[in-house]
Amino acid sequence: MKAKLILMATGLLSTAMFWNCQNKGITNATPSQNTTGPVLPEKPYDYPNGDDNKATLGRVLFYDKNLSINNGVSCGSCHKQENAFCDNMQFSTGTHQRLTDRNTPSIFSKVGRMFWDGRAGNSADLALGPVKNPVEMDFSDLPALCSRLSSLDYYPLLFKNAFGTSRIDSSRIREALAAFVNNFTFSDTKFNKSKSGKAVLTAQENQGKDLFFGQALCAQCHHIDDNGSTGNGYGVADTDANIGLDATYKDQGRGKLTGNSSDNGKFMVPVLLNVEHTAPYMHDGRFKTLEEVVEHYNSKIQNHPNLDFRLRDFNGQPKKLNLTDSDKAALVAFLKTLSDNKIFTDQRFSDPFAN
Ligand code: HEC
Ligand code: HEC
Repeated sequence: MKAKLILMATGLLSTAMFWNCQNKGITNATPSQNTTGPVLPEKPYDYPNGDDNKATLGRVLFYDKNLSINNGVSCGSCHKQENAFCDNMQFSTGTHQRLTDRNTPSIFSKVGRMFWDGRAGNSADLALGPVKNPVEMDFSDLPALCSRLSSLDYYPLLFKNAFGTSRIDSSRIREALAAFVNNFTFSDTKFNKSKSGKAVLTAQENQGKDLFFGQALCAQCHHIDDNGSTGNGYGVADTDANIGLDATYKDQGRGKLTGNSSDNGKFMVPVLLNVEHTAPYMHDGRFKTLEEVVEHYNSKIQNHPNLDFRLRDFNGQPKKLNLTDSDKAALVAFLKTLSDNKIFTDQRFSDPFAN
């Protein structure tokens, strides 16, 4: 059994900040703010990618509500381990009870673009984004964030272990968060195991697999079999596409970012790892079930000018897959072989404040 080192927070300054924020009219601090420090193993866990001490600090930051302006929200409030690192809501509630305008995706270490509109180049670029985002954590005053963290007695040692000195600055916060996020490489799925003979797909799952890689063209965009740079079988998602959800999109996705109408309605191709557990689906969480997703591709694609060529027939019209009920059920069964249930229990990713 691993000895635990219990680090206690003073919590004093964060309480002061909370009152301060209240005076500014921000009243939504929840009663569930962190009051004690994290419980950590004496020797850092072994993380698959990179520096264990940085990842350990990143884990604490990820779950620390002190990173939000009113101490009410952490990254883990929306990216919940029990929900495969999303939250099963169409939109998520951030600081000040505001709703996000897009569905919370799961977290998966990947090189290449992230977010529904593909804006972040890598996890280091994105890590402070949610902290500063007014809907998510609303802490844009980074020097104030650093001084708040400096006042919590568990951070100096964690920063020292990670960086050699206990100085807290925003680039270190970003680097540590990124180091943690870079370890989300779950890929011990039934599908991956079947490739090395460690699991056997059922006849129905095999039928779905043949459709996924064949007639239904799913693998043309969702490269679940690509070892890419991460080597875990979910290598490439570095592309976006318009899949004809609507003839006119309310959220233009990549088009909103680039201002280029040929990008309208284009969204990042999401990783399908654990997709069984990440409902609801799509950038706006419009589909509650995988059956609805499959029916979209089967018969409901809309003729948007930017609709991807792979989803058009020879006449340029939205493609109809004409799947039978058995085909549709098989595709769903196959999608469920892409789950790695260790994501729910792996201590290295759990909330250290929850013990
Ligand atoms: C209020 C809910 C909320 C909080 C808090 C939050 N996120 Fe997110 N996260 C989202 C939403 C929504 C998106 C998708 C946003 C978009 O694409 O426009 C997202 C996207 C991401 C992605 C990209 C995933 C992908 O595959 O593209 C990562 C990584 C991420 N968040 C990490 C974090 C980290 C680290 C923190 C804490 C510093 C955090 N999030 C805090 C809701 C949240
Ligand atoms: C042209 C590329 C393309 C093809 C082909 C394609 N997809 Fe997608 N898929 C996407 C994009 C892009 C999204 C996100 C769209 C959005 O949110 O607006 C997506 C979203 C999804 C989602 C939702 C994931 C989530 O986390 O919300 C599932 C499930 C899915 N696709 C399964 C499939 C299946 C099954 C097939 C084959 C029948 C398929 N896709 C074919 C590009 C594609």
